Amino acid sequence: MVAKSGRHFLQIPGPTNVPDRILRALARPTIDHRGPEFARLAREAIEGLQQIFKTTGPVVIYPSSGTGAWEAALVNTLSPGDTVLMFETGHFATLWKNMAARLGLQVDFVPGDWRHGVDPEVVEARLAADRSHAIKAVAIVHNETSTGVESRVAEVRRRMDEAGHPALLMVDTISSLASIDYRQDEWGVDVTVSCSQKGLMLPPGLGLNAISEKALLASKSARLARSYWDWEPMVKDNKAGFFPYTPATNLLYGLREAIQMLLEEGLDNVFARHDRHAEATRRAVQAWGLEVVCLNPDEYSSSLTAVMMPAGYDADGLRKVILERFDMSLGTGLGKLKGKIFRIGHLGDFNDLMLAGTLSGVEMGLAIAGVPFTQGGVAAALEYLSSK
Ligand SMILES: Cc1ncc(COP(=O)(O)O)c(C=O)c1O
Repeated sequence: MVAKSGRHFLQIPGPTNVPDRILRALARPTIDHRGPEFARLAREAIEGLQQIFKTTGPVVIYPSSGTGAWEAALVNTLSPGDTVLMFETGHFATLWKNMAARLGLQVDFVPGDWRHGVDPEVVEARLAADRSHAIKAVAIVHNETSTGVESRVAEVRRRMDEAGHPALLMVDTISSLASIDYRQDEWGVDVTVSCSQKGLMLPPGLGLNAISEKALLASKSARLARSYWDWEPMVKDNKAGFFPYTPATNLLYGLREAIQMLLEEGLDNVFARHDRHAEATRRAVQAWGLEVVCLNPDEYSSSLTAVMMPAGYDADGLRKVILERFDMSLGTGLGKLKGKIFRIGHLGDFNDLMLAGTLSGVEMGLAIAGVPFTQGGVAAALEYLSSK
């Protein structure tokens, strides 16, 4: 392996680049997680997360990846044999569906083409047809990281209300939280699932659930087996700033710093920054003569852009060239999109010049890999960035 100078460009759609401020916070000495200093840290982190999720309800923090937070959402609220309405928006929606089935839930999985988000009309129709209220939860992925397609959560909520159905609404915000507008309480979401390594700019290691009152109530009678993921001891101990088991102390230092950074910038500015970088990226893709995976402009993701390769060209071959020549990692195609697409992550700690570097790496890589395309994507992105 040849030694590389300069910084690696980590442009996968998470884990994202961890800013120096957070790295320094993570490097503080580990403290007693049953002492007073820790209680202050935990309370600040939890209160900060409530601002990020836009909720006044409890937020629990697991030492886990996002997959653990998925499991926590299901096992705390549902019972064996309950029906969950889920949508095949892509790879992650499919994995969550597989988990629900393995846990003993019945999944009504609405098929999809991996190029569209959840259709709110289908949500309403499915719920309206469910007169016996067999469906106990609607579980959707806000931002499908495998495709760069965003689902319209507020609209899904509105359609659920229109159907007058009591199902819980669960939303995976793993690649949208702190990058794309999200409002747990206003949108009436019952459980929001998220984690540390994307918009929160932290290393992997924290799984999050934001919980509504209705979900807490459901957890009192839910009968799926749960132990590690049980909300009850978490919520109880968190009130005093403690955890029922050893928390990820140093990640909480990082989390507190990340929240401070996001609030200093202002969440609306954070979202606008992501929207702008996403638009610049799409302009580059269009100028290259390539196609984005997302087919509906109302569902474009602001945290990543997934790009289709021309037929007969291998996306992972292109990614390999870009990694070897320019020390930049791009996201691979997942599941049935393996080899067919690559994904550009533009979320987290990111600015105009980082985007310019990222798109330059892609444009040079396309040329080196011999992929048919038109030069000028970087120029199109720069023109947009300098005019806005
Ligand atoms: C939308 C979405 N959901 C769930 C997951 C799974 O999270 P983890 O890999 O942290 O377990 C990911 C991972 O990238 C994701 O993007």
